[in-house]
Amino acid sequence: MWITPFVGYNCRMKLQKKIIVGNWKMNVATVKEAQAIVRTVKKKTLAIRKTDVVFCPPAVYFADLKKSVQGSKKYRLGAQNVSSEEKGSFTGEISATLVKQFGVSHVILGHSERRKMGETDEMIGKKVREVLRMKMTPIFCIGETVRNDDGDYLQFIKGQITKVLRGLSNAEISEVIIAYEPVWAIGATQAMGTHDIHEMTLYIKKCLREIFKEYGGQVAILYGGAVNTENALEIVTDGFVDGLLIGRDSLEPQNFVDIIKMVDAIK
Ligand code: PGA
Repeated sequence: MWITPFVGYNCRMKLQKKIIVGNWKMNVATVKEAQAIVRTVKKKTLAIRKTDVVFCPPAVYFADLKKSVQGSKKYRLGAQNVSSEEKGSFTGEISATLVKQFGVSHVILGHSERRKMGETDEMIGKKVREVLRMKMTPIFCIGETVRNDDGDYLQFIKGQITKVLRGLSNAEISEVIIAYEPVWAIGATQAMGTHDIHEMTLYIKKCLREIFKEYGGQVAILYGGAVNTENALEIVTDGFVDGLLIGRDSLEPQNFVDIIKMVDAIK
């Protein structure tokens, strides 16, 4: 059973619940469409009990979607990125403080698409701390770009975890969600095999325990990369993950609904 050693973050989710995150990226062309996706998903998943859903739309939609998640523990809003700074002269940036007033409780950080634009572990580490300072939940993305037979990718993953998370307090690490997304599977046709996903979740937990002892073992680990209605259930049950980070299929309301329901039905 998960334990929750620290209370005080008003945005936290109970870790025994599964978490399904929909990363819309720079998609969905109108407010109407954005509202329709959220409305449909909510309406069709009203009966879920064991799953929390986080919608991560482009930031321009937060104001219009705020109402749909207000007062709900089941449905949340997440940002796809924030600045590491609290405020100031940073043209084009949006702070955690700014998004929080629109009901945003989660923030995806270090997504591979942002890393490709030049985001480093050092920058991501600062952002994680800023999000935690604002009592919000960071969804910290890690993942190797390539796999080889030498197992170098294990060291690479350990490096990402260590560089970004080392130094967080026990209370802080308990608030972090990790999304393991092998970069080669993002946007691909095939997800990683469930055996490999299981192995990676075990490895990530081991790395976290080395740094944070028992607190590390409680961090929720999601899988992301080519998750769809065909593979979602198997990934959660055989990959032993705490949830999913979904790109493309989070834009197809019926597919997203099917995945949420499947995961919620797991005993
Ligand atoms: P995908 O994207 O589900 O479309 O592969 C996942 C992600 O980028 O988080």
